[in-house]
Amino acid sequence: MRWLRGVKAHYSDERATVYHGDCIEVMRSLPDNSVDSVVTDPPYGLEFMGKDWDAPWKRSGDVEWVEEGTDASHPFRDGSARIRFGLGGEASYGFQLWFTDVATEALRVLKPGGHLLAFGGTRTWHRLAVGIEDAGFEIRDSIAWQYGSGFPKSLDVSKAIDKRQGVEREVVETIPDRWAGKGSVLQRSNQSPAESVNITAPATPEAQQWSGWGTALKPAHEPIVVARKPLIGTVAENVLTHGTGALNIDGSRIGYQSGEVDFTKEQKQSTTATVNFGGAKPGDVVQMFKPAGRWPANVILDEAMAAELDRQSGVSVSVKGTLTSKPGGVYGNGKGLPSHTAEYGHNDSGGASRFFYVAKANKSERPRDGDTAHPTVKPLALMRYLCKLVTPPGGTILEPFAGSGTTVQAALMEGFNVIAIEMTDEYLPLIVERIERYGEMLF
Ligand SMILES: C[S@@+](CC[C@H](N)C(=O)[O-])C[C@H]1O[C@@H](n2cnc3c(N)ncnc32)[C@H](O)[C@@H]1O
Repeated sequence: MRWLRGVKAHYSDERATVYHGDCIEVMRSLPDNSVDSVVTDPPYGLEFMGKDWDAPWKRSGDVEWVEEGTDASHPFRDGSARIRFGLGGEASYGFQLWFTDVATEALRVLKPGGHLLAFGGTRTWHRLAVGIEDAGFEIRDSIAWQYGSGFPKSLDVSKAIDKRQGVEREVVETIPDRWAGKGSVLQRSNQSPAESVNITAPATPEAQQWSGWGTALKPAHEPIVVARKPLIGTVAENVLTHGTGALNIDGSRIGYQSGEVDFTKEQKQSTTATVNFGGAKPGDVVQMFKPAGRWPANVILDEAMAAELDRQSGVSVSVKGTLTSKPGGVYGNGKGLPSHTAEYGHNDSGGASRFFYVAKANKSERPRDGDTAHPTVKPLALMRYLCKLVTPPGGTILEPFAGSGTTVQAALMEGFNVIAIEMTDEYLPLIVERIERYGEMLF
C-alpha cells in the first residue's frame, strides 16, 4: 500500500494508485513535476441531480452561497452589483475560484510542458477555462465532444403560465413515454421514468400564445479545455528534457473509413515555385498522406452524432486530383506563389463524420448486473483517445476526479500508469473493479 506524506492510498499496484479524498489535499502530497498529463472529468458546477460533489462552491471558503438577490462581492466594472440567477453570479464565480485552486496543484504536479485536458459543462466551462488559465496554464485549444444522447431540460412556458394562473389543462392525448424503462440517469437527469406522458392543451389565451416556447436547447456537446503547463525553453528542448510538451498526432490520426486509399500518392510542385510545402525545394517530391489517417481535429463525435452527420451530408468523395494554381494567392508572404501544380484529395469517400474521430461504445463497458453506476460516466473509447493524444508512451496520467474510473481504465488500456483521486466513498469500489477487470474490455 502506498503512502504519500501521510496520505494513504486506497488501492495501489505497479501501474495504478487510487486515493480517497479531496483532490486538492491529495495533490498537495504529490511531488512537483511528477506526472506527464492530467486528463480529468471534474464536476461541472451545476449541482447535477442534486449531488453535492457537483457544487464545489458550497465547500469553498472564499464564497458565500446565497440563493437569490444581488451580489456585491465582485461587481461589474461600473460598480453595480450582479444579479444572481440560480447558477449565475456567485455560484459560477465560486466554481471558478475553486477550480483555480485545483488547477494550481495540478500545474505544480505536472512536468513542464505537460498537458491538461478537462471536460466542462456548456453553462460553466468559461469559468473552468479562466480558472485553469489563472492557475498559470496556457490554454492551447478546446475540443468539442459532440453526442446524440442528450435530453433537453427545458421549461414548458405555456404549462408554466397555466400553472401560475391556477388553471387545469385538458389532457388531449396519452402517449407512451419513449424513454420509459430505458432512459439512463444521464439522459433523464433527475426525472423519474414514466410509462406514459399526457399531452395537454393550453387552457388560457396567454398559454396558447406561448405554446411551443421553452428555455433550453438539447445538449449535444461538451467542451474539453486543452491546456499546457508552460514549457522550459523551446518545444524541442522541453520534449528532449521532460518528454512532454507535444501532442501525439500520428497516434491519434483519424482512420480512413473506405478501403481504397492510395497511400503512394505524392505531391509535386513545379520547378517555378519558390515557396513550398513542408520545406521542400521546388521540384522535390513531397508525400502528403499518412497511412494512419487524417490529422486529429478538435471535434470528436459519438456514434449517434456521426450517423446523424452522415445522414445529413450524404456520401462525398475526397477526389484525387491535380490543381494548378495561378500566381499569387494561396500561401501568402505578401508576394504570393508563382504558378505551381499540386496533387490533392485523400481519395476516399464516406459521410462527413470521416473527418472526425468517432468514439464508439463498447458493449462490455456497460455496467454489469449489480453494478452501482456513476451518473456521469464518460465513454471508454473517448477517454482512451484523449489519454493517448496528450501522454508520452509509458507516461503517468493524473485524474483528480475519477468517478467510476473511466479515465483510470482508459489509461491502463493504453499502457499508461495512472494516479486517481475520488472523494465519494461509494465510487471507490467501481474504480477498483475497473482496474481488476480492464483486461476483459480490450477491443
Ligand atoms: C463528473 S464525475 C466523474 C465521472 C467519471 N468521468 C466517470 O466516467 O465515471 C466527477 C467526480 O468527481 C468527484 N469529486 C468532486 N469533487 C471532488 C474533489 N474535491 N476531490 C475529489 N473528487 C471529487 C465526484 O465524487 C465525482 O465522482
